[in-house]
Amino acid sequence: MAERTIALVGGGLIGSSWAVVFARAGHTVRVYEAVPEQRTALQDRVRRLLLDLEAEGLVENAAAAAERVVLTESLKDAVQGAGHVQENGPERLEVKQPLLSEIDAAAPAEATIASSTSALLPSALSDHLTGRRRFLVAHPVNPPHLIPLVELCPAPWTDAAAVERVRALMAEVGQSPILVRREIDGFILNRLQGALLHEAFRLVEQGYARVEDVDAAVADGLGLRWSFMGPFETIDLNAPQGLADYGRRYGGMYAGMFGVEPWSGELLAKAEEQRRAMLPREALVERQSWRDRRLLRLVQHKKAMDKSDKEK
Ligand SMILES: NC(=O)c1ccc[n+]([C@@H]2O[C@H](COP(=O)([O-])OP(=O)(O)OC[C@H]3O[C@@H](n4cnc5c(N)ncnc54)[C@H](O)[C@@H]3O)[C@@H](O)[C@H]2O)c1
Repeated sequence: MAERTIALVGGGLIGSSWAVVFARAGHTVRVYEAVPEQRTALQDRVRRLLLDLEAEGLVENAAAAAERVVLTESLKDAVQGAGHVQENGPERLEVKQPLLSEIDAAAPAEATIASSTSALLPSALSDHLTGRRRFLVAHPVNPPHLIPLVELCPAPWTDAAAVERVRALMAEVGQSPILVRREIDGFILNRLQGALLHEAFRLVEQGYARVEDVDAAVADGLGLRWSFMGPFETIDLNAPQGLADYGRRYGGMYAGMFGVEPWSGELLAKAEEQRRAMLPREALVERQSWRDRRLLRLVQHKKAMDKSDKEK
């Protein structure tokens, strides 16, 4: 993709990290931040984050990337000529709605517009916009320059072409875009995190575990695999015939824990079909070896980090 201009509106914690994401990929980044002290903070933070990346070999030329980030005096100046506008203002509907109206009125007709909102629904954010068909949510995980996931959530009226353009842009700058196919509270990441937190608190509340033991269950157990594959791939590799086989073997056990119905045969077949489209059954054993090779390297990395923490 050719170098293009990205406009950021709001240059706080998330805005400055987005600036790093787009600038390190070679794009010009024009930022409008309303509060003067925040502008100086943004410039310092962007430079520092880029130098940290350079020190680890994750960016080639931190100084050159920092120069691609330009602060503007007005919102209009930032969005003029932009191919994509990312809104990162305060998480309040009554602030974001007028801010998005201003962006929509000033941005070039062909620009896509996305909000970094953590929890506001795209329909509530964009119902009133003239250009609502080019709007969607692109929810990052803090800090986006280190955590690549970005959840794309269109409103019911968003053009499929706008979603595809933002998906392609995010992939091109090294992020990992996923699609929320229909808007839902919490999108995907926070719904998964919420389910886990809910159970973690319950275990502590009812005295089954202490906080540090729940944390160790994730840091030294579940999280090791989760750093390179998700829960579906995990269970696909944990039964000889794959995901549906796992569901048939253990579905009753999980259902019993929560007093719910086991996953239906139909649901297991749907998930199985999606997994098999990515990995044929005959490749499961080789994928298990791949998982183990990744785990070996991860264990090695964690041991080295633990050692250096102790030496500090
Ligand atoms: N912090 C997180 O962990 C996180 C993670 C994912 C998404 N988000 C979302 O990203 C957005 C920004 O969050 P943040 O953590 O960076 O907050 P923040 O308070 O650090 O940044 C918001 C910035 O917007 C500026 N601002 C306010 N009104 C403005 C206006 N009219 N024009 C331009 N700038 C304006 C503020 O001065 C501030 O610097 C929120 O919607 C938040 O929900 C945050």
